[in-house]
Amino acid sequence: MIQSLRGMNDILAPQNAVYEHIIKTASTIAQRFGCTYIETPILEETALFKRSVGESSDIVGKEMYQFIDKGENDVCMRPEGTAGVVRAFIQAKKDRQEKSERFFYHGPMFRYERPQKGRLRQFHQFGVESFGEHSVFEDAAIITMIAQIFDALNITYTLKINSLGDEHCMPSYRDDLITFLQSVEDEICDDCKRRKQSNPIRTLDCKNQTCQNLYVNAPKLINQLCSECQSDFDQLQKLLTSTGIAFEIDTHLVRGLDYYSKTAFEFVSTEIGAQNAIAGGGRYDKLISLLGGRETPAIGFALGIERLIDLVQMQVPQTPLYYFGAMDESALPTLFNVANTLREKGHHALIDYRPRKLAAHLKNADKRSATFCAVIGENELKEKKIWLKDLSLKEEKVILIEDFFKTLA
Ligand code: HAM
Repeated sequence: MIQSLRGMNDILAPQNAVYEHIIKTASTIAQRFGCTYIETPILEETALFKRSVGESSDIVGKEMYQFIDKGENDVCMRPEGTAGVVRAFIQAKKDRQEKSERFFYHGPMFRYERPQKGRLRQFHQFGVESFGEHSVFEDAAIITMIAQIFDALNITYTLKINSLGDEHCMPSYRDDLITFLQSVEDEICDDCKRRKQSNPIRTLDCKNQTCQNLYVNAPKLINQLCSECQSDFDQLQKLLTSTGIAFEIDTHLVRGLDYYSKTAFEFVSTEIGAQNAIAGGGRYDKLISLLGGRETPAIGFALGIERLIDLVQMQVPQTPLYYFGAMDESALPTLFNVANTLREKGHHALIDYRPRKLAAHLKNADKRSATFCAVIGENELKEKKIWLKDLSLKEEKVILIEDFFKTLA
């Protein structure tokens, strides 16, 4: 039998209801913040991700689903959503309009990682990208939006924040960090030796404990932020405190994508094991110009839906289901119309197209967890009536189809 690929899962009941609930909750809250829905293609030019996510990142270096298509184009299945939304924003010339705009999206992302609990090769994100707001109030609004989504989903979390500085303070910090890394070069892991050349900041979130013990003494960017980054970071903390959102400052939070500057954040859960990041994001003020657009400040986040599914404890609401059955072939056209009228009125209705005896229909309705079993036999058909049983109350009656419709909201 052909199985799904490793790290790529089907989403069936009961998780499918939780999946829909997460998307619905997050979309509703994003809309309250003025976000509108955007859909971008799954397949994009590979160059888009190389330039935005960064050649030195693990995502671009090791994890891309990249191939040459039949037209000889170098293409890639999106590993994340930001790059595509930025490309669409520039392509629609929205970088030339003098107004801020916010988008939300959801859908599959692809990373060729080593699958494990909470880490998939095809996973789903819900994300928001906000363009045109320079103010740190927007950073606080984005973080508040995520907190509201998690509160609505009844998920507890720890929020970690950091500032990654900007073009004024990052370069001198980078030099200091390289000097430090040179002083411990013999003791750090091979990955960090490589990162020291390509993207020294990424050494700070190395998973190797020996490296982490050494990096306790590494210089901290937070101690040498320029005045603008410092005042924004201070203001962000004040705003979060005033909103009642608890946070920790994590000076080693650098994120795995290269496009960030200033605010970076991650929401983590203590309840889902090693892959504990449930949402991440930050500011990326330079990305729009890097991809050929007019310089536009921007900030966004994405949450990992599969990681949230395990955390959302919900009672799947039971929508009453009507099961329709015919005892004779001749009743099927009437049943077909009755069921469709119910659906038009917003009810859930199923029809069993095979004529059966009443007892068989009742058994079938029970198997489908129906709330009502409605059957038409020869007599009911002649009298324009329907036999209806409420399976939870165990009450049955025969009523005119016309009256049956009147009982429905
Ligand atoms: P990210 O931190 O790479 O950021 O991914 C966001 C979230 O997606 C993670 O916190 C995690 O919950 C989920 N996730 C990532 N990789 C996997 C995986 N292999 N399996 C399951 N879940 C995963 C971004 O993607 C940025 N585009 C976020 C952003 C938007 N920054 C600015 N705007």
